[in-house]
Amino acid sequence: MAFKIEIKNLYFDYLSSKKKIFPALENINLNIEEGKFVCILGASGCGKSTLLSILSGLNKAKSGEVLIDNKKIEGPGIDRAVVFQHYSLFPFLTVKGNVLFGIKQAKKKYKRKEREALVKKYLKNVGLLDAQNKYPNELSGGMQQRVAVARALALESDILLMDEPFGAIDPRLRLELQELVSKLSKDNNKTVVFVTHDIDEALLLADTIVVMEPSKIKEVLNIDFEFPRIREELVSTPKYQELYKKLFSLFYNIVLNEIHEEAML
Ligand SMILES: Nc1ncnc2c1ncn2[C@@H]1O[C@H](COP(=O)(O)OP(=O)(O)OP(=O)(O)O)[C@@H](O)[C@H]1O
Ligand SMILES: [Mg+2]
Repeated sequence: MAFKIEIKNLYFDYLSSKKKIFPALENINLNIEEGKFVCILGASGCGKSTLLSILSGLNKAKSGEVLIDNKKIEGPGIDRAVVFQHYSLFPFLTVKGNVLFGIKQAKKKYKRKEREALVKKYLKNVGLLDAQNKYPNELSGGMQQRVAVARALALESDILLMDEPFGAIDPRLRLELQELVSKLSKDNNKTVVFVTHDIDEALLLADTIVVMEPSKIKEVLNIDFEFPRIREELVSTPKYQELYKKLFSLFYNIVLNEIHEEAML
């Protein structure tokens, strides 16, 4: 079976202001099958956004390679929709204008009416149809994040790359959006790479959870609960609790080790 995304021996570093090389990703290997939902779980600074920036094509691997449909990534493409950690909406465009902007790039053949229908559909999905004529600076952080989610979903691309897309959204809406993204991705066989700090979120959404430690993959876990997943039913099962405990100890041991190492410096 061919993989949708193949990450092979990926290495990436940043050059600090003092010209020191800082390795942000080392020896990353990961194969993602088409239609799978992969959650990247890891502490702050371990390289999650860097990995997403390479998958999106905004950064290039320094060594190793990343293939999509067997082709090396050459830059951003309309096969991938991205929700950035800091939403990055255009401040000079309305909510509607922001969502429409992406659609114009991805769906050049669409007539105006078809584009407008897409905008409406996805703004309604994230509960923001009433805010369509507002500008980003008139919205709360959580609302801006929902616009960014609508903009990405409206591209209807094969691949969705989402960097903590629900971080600023309140728990009730967050659950609705988790269910929306899960349903849309499964119904449309999308391949998703979704960064989160939240173990429950990862267990609700993921086929595979990749736990990162600084610059590396620590562990890859397959999560085989059936979809659609109902959180209230899942959380009380022994399997869920066992996985939660495992992820909790993996995640927090990494965080505690880091704090310990920093204290020793
Ligand atoms: N432009 C940059 N220049 C130099 N170093 C950077 C740059 N961007 C990120 N880094 C460093 O690379 C490491 C990984 O950063 P990255 O943003 O990928 O982490 P992250 O896992 O997404 O963290 P968070 O959960 O806080 O978003 C961090 O140590 C960070 O300080
Ligand atoms: Mg990040």
